[in-house]
Amino acid sequence: MASLTIRKLDDDLKQQLRLRAARNGRSMEDEARQLLKSAAGESSEMAAPARPTAPPPSALPATAERTATVPSANGRRIVLIIGGGIAAYKSLDLIRRLRERGAKVRVIMTQAAQQFVTPLAASALAGEAAFTDLFDPASEFDVGHIRLARDTDLVIVAPATADLMAKMAHGLAGDLATAVLLATNAPVLIAPAMNPAMWRHKATQRNLARLAADGVVTVGPNAGEMAESGESGTGRMAEPLEIAAAATALLGSVLPATPGPLAGKRVLVTSGPTHEPIDPVRYIANRSSGKQGHAIAEAAAKAGADVILISGPVNVPDPPGVTVIKIESARDMLAAVQAALPVDVAVLAAAVADWRVAHEGAQKMKKTGKGTPELTLVENPDILATIAKSKTNRPALVIGFAAETETVIEHAKAKLARKGCDWIVANDVSPQTGIMGGDRNTVHLITQDGVESWPPLSKTDVAAQLVARIGKAFSSEVGTGSR
Ligand SMILES: Cc1cc2nc3c(=O)[nH]c(=O)nc-3n(C[C@H](O)[C@H](O)[C@H](O)COP(=O)(O)O)c2cc1C
Repeated sequence: MASLTIRKLDDDLKQQLRLRAARNGRSMEDEARQLLKSAAGESSEMAAPARPTAPPPSALPATAERTATVPSANGRRIVLIIGGGIAAYKSLDLIRRLRERGAKVRVIMTQAAQQFVTPLAASALAGEAAFTDLFDPASEFDVGHIRLARDTDLVIVAPATADLMAKMAHGLAGDLATAVLLATNAPVLIAPAMNPAMWRHKATQRNLARLAADGVVTVGPNAGEMAESGESGTGRMAEPLEIAAAATALLGSVLPATPGPLAGKRVLVTSGPTHEPIDPVRYIANRSSGKQGHAIAEAAAKAGADVILISGPVNVPDPPGVTVIKIESARDMLAAVQAALPVDVAVLAAAVADWRVAHEGAQKMKKTGKGTPELTLVENPDILATIAKSKTNRPALVIGFAAETETVIEHAKAKLARKGCDWIVANDVSPQTGIMGGDRNTVHLITQDGVESWPPLSKTDVAAQLVARIGKAFSSEVGTGSR
């Protein structure tokens, strides 16, 4: 039986096959298999292709036609870091390919990248100004590099130079690109591009292995002619279509490829405890871990929502695909919640302290030998009631949480009426339940229509079930309250 080795095909044919495979989201081997099957008449794909074939980029039809058929990046946010390699020009096309797939693309260019392509060209293609400087006063007044790192679903580095790979592998953060790469929780996809000798070098291969161990995903490099005359070997950057295909695949593995039930909705979630300062080193807190609130934020993001999570001090990781704002006190939390409005849904799951001390010490309080200090408590703002009773910008659906230690349902029903919210998720947080800080929860959902008691579930499942209910409420416009 004859065998076919893709590696041995001529470069032009390999290139056609690579593009076609990228276009159809298949490996080159699968694409070749598919073509052979079609040619042998076992499939009707040749006659009536189920997916578009892959002509060279220059021959692709107009954008409007193409967007209907390309795999979707579904409104996802991508930071594209362009490194200083000769392949930087291809990254301009990559911006277009990603935007065709529905992605919002923000571009960061290294100093060296700007020797190859201009920030103006990248900005024009991305539809917003490219970022170039870590110490830019216009974007760093609110620590913009951390925002860039957090407000994204994926970071792509293309071309990933030998230099950038080395810096990433060693955790350097001396410029905007590397600082964002070190600060991000989003998945990272790199498209290396360099001279074959640089690629083969033990240092580069060591860095590649280190990056793979850190969870960085690589596309390419490909073999073939290099831009430098007379050079060939492995080191060509993957084609923009291949990178775009790898990006959508990676996004699809962490986030849904099709619009979820909350696509287009803006969801605000609060989570964790608040810390109410007594003096610069002491505070009043509670045992909330943030596990339930964070799980709800993650589930809402998976359902396609644009999610803002306002979190008190917690030890759980930031959920992927979510904008996280970290605060300390109840007053900070209220200010952050109000700044996040308008939203469609507010899920106020944080365990906000009811009280704070009336007079916070400016310096650490000292023992005086004259007895103990008297701490007078004053009430904190009621975030749930403030948002639920707000005359302007009230979310269509306001969901509160009631953590009780006795007569859970009765207290929660009273809270629903008193606070003016639409739903309450009530649970028994008595120490013997293990719910505070634990991984499981037993909740009752109280709506205007009655009480639903859910079985004991993991906090992730409670979150998924709650998000499904929110989706249902919006699809039928039922249960979003009487307002
Ligand atoms: C003409 C020219 C082409 C270059 N092409 C590449 C390349 O393809 N890949 C690479 O790793 N470095 C390449 N370099 C070297 C990088 O530009 C250099 O290492 C730079 O410091 C990379 O900066 P950056 O990683 O911050 O973008 C090239 C340099 C020049 C002058």
